[in-house]
Amino acid sequence: MNTTMVNQSWDPVWENVFKVSKWRGYPSENLVRFMARNFYSKNRGEIKVLDVGCGSGANLWYLSREGFKAYGIDGSKTAIELAEKKLSFDNLKAELHVGDVLDLNVFPDGYFDVVIDLESLCTNKMEATRKILSEIYRVLNNSGLFYSEAFSEFHTVLHTDKGYIRKINKKDLCDLYDKFKIKNIDLSEYTIDNGIKKVSEYIVVAEK
Ligand SMILES: C[S@@+](CC[C@H](N)C(=O)[O-])C[C@H]1O[C@@H](n2cnc3c(N)ncnc32)[C@H](O)[C@@H]1O
Repeated sequence: MNTTMVNQSWDPVWENVFKVSKWRGYPSENLVRFMARNFYSKNRGEIKVLDVGCGSGANLWYLSREGFKAYGIDGSKTAIELAEKKLSFDNLKAELHVGDVLDLNVFPDGYFDVVIDLESLCTNKMEATRKILSEIYRVLNNSGLFYSEAFSEFHTVLHTDKGYIRKINKKDLCDLYDKFKIKNIDLSEYTIDNGIKKVSEYIVVAEK
């Protein structure tokens, strides 16, 4: 595990979240679909994927298991320790860093084929998110893909004790991600608690 934390947008509330609760252990179904459609037919061992705000590593576990070169960075030391444990339990590997994704200096320009964001950028304020997106743009290779899951304006679940969580409409999301060529924006929705609450997210696939 490598540690860097100079500039900070990351909210330390996440350290407590990973200390007191069990986070999801399995990857996002939409991420699996995205990887399958775009990369299963390629030489997986040559595809480098960076998970920004990787949490306790469910998505890295999946990526490594499927043969991709997996890299993760998160502000929470506890989350990264949990990710290390999860991977080593199944003899899987990923390069892991504790750090703020505002600054991806540990990675050179154009290093990654794919960067993924699973509800991580949406926990950062708008101004910081713009800077993070510039860093993501920088570390992606030409024609590299950016995959992002972001809560929509239709999301009604309250996230208590998790700090700032942004909901965004499609137009503002397109403006925010305007550095990239957006290939797809889809809405993924389901209800919970017998239909009382709705989980609603935009699934964005964009190209450098
Ligand atoms: C909602 S959780 C999602 C975790 C993981 N992506 C998943 O799908 O299981 C948000 C994660 O993003 C991380 N995060 C948010 N902003 C960050 C930042 N600026 N730098 C580093 N990590 C960040 C948090 O520490 C937390 O682990």
